[in-house]
Amino acid sequence: MSYSSHLRSGLRETDDSGPLSLLSDSEFRLFRDLIYEECGISLSLEKRAFLESRLKRRLDELGITSGYEYYRVITGPQGRSKELPALLDSLMICETSFFRNLPQFDLLREVVLPEIAARKEKCGTRMLRVWSAGCSTGQEPYSAVIALLETLPDRDSWTMRIVASDLSFTALERAQAGLYRADQLKGIDPRSVTKYFRRENEHYVVSDAVKKRVIFDYHNLKNDNGLRGLDIIFCRNVMIYFDAEEQRRLVSRFANCLLPGGFLFLGHAESLQGLSTRFAMVHRNKGIAYRLEG
Ligand SMILES: C[S@@+](CC[C@H](N)C(=O)[O-])C[C@H]1O[C@@H](n2cnc3c(N)ncnc32)[C@H](O)[C@@H]1O
Repeated sequence: MSYSSHLRSGLRETDDSGPLSLLSDSEFRLFRDLIYEECGISLSLEKRAFLESRLKRRLDELGITSGYEYYRVITGPQGRSKELPALLDSLMICETSFFRNLPQFDLLREVVLPEIAARKEKCGTRMLRVWSAGCSTGQEPYSAVIALLETLPDRDSWTMRIVASDLSFTALERAQAGLYRADQLKGIDPRSVTKYFRRENEHYVVSDAVKKRVIFDYHNLKNDNGLRGLDIIFCRNVMIYFDAEEQRRLVSRFANCLLPGGFLFLGHAESLQGLSTRFAMVHRNKGIAYRLEG
């Protein structure tokens, strides 16, 4: 029996899958390799139950009964453009919050922005370009805009371009709507809530003054999106899902996107150790960022 007919028959090899598991070991490897290839997310064996539960939901929705049949769908010509992105979306962990990792925002306000502003003053430009890479449901880029508006001297004389991208369509839709429950605003200074949000029934909506500064974009971090001349990149709590090889490629692309002296913010469990020597660590209290050396 060939490998693929073996899979098609639904037979399980002797493997680690339990009697109720959806995927055989070989099927798990097929999905794992495809997901890694497509979006850089590296699923270890411990993530198998997670993958199977997300797959099960898609299979039920589509009325498909076997993992291998679904694999054929997503790797077919039509599936690649439609169903595969939907599967990837369903696998994304979109946990986020406003002003997540506050010490980093303190560092942004107290060290990073004054340094960048002084540099810009010298060359007579008042343009700031920021990228929130893996922006999830928008809290990160909106926090960045609020911090910029609150920190930059003579803020109306500045042009701010904040690009916020993600691989999850569902997260991007929510980000674009900018609609949050009261409990989701708990990281924000109450004065900023009054200033930068308006109440709509049970929810709070990000004000137009903040929203208009953010451009949301569907983008897979496996690829270069062509952004150049950036001052700041936030890519926090995303790399943690990638293996070292993929992290190295990503950081090297980030270095190409930033201006010399530009800053990269990573998540609190992430670092550039072993990934790049092109950045210098900058820290204040518990806030850390990385400056691209000229
Ligand atoms: C845990 S959230 C982090 C959100 C935010 N950066 C923060 O720290 O609060 C991770 C985000 O990365 C996105 N993501 C994961 N892999 C990605 C990829 N290859 N390309 C683009 N976005 C990706 C997910 O969709 C998710 O929204």
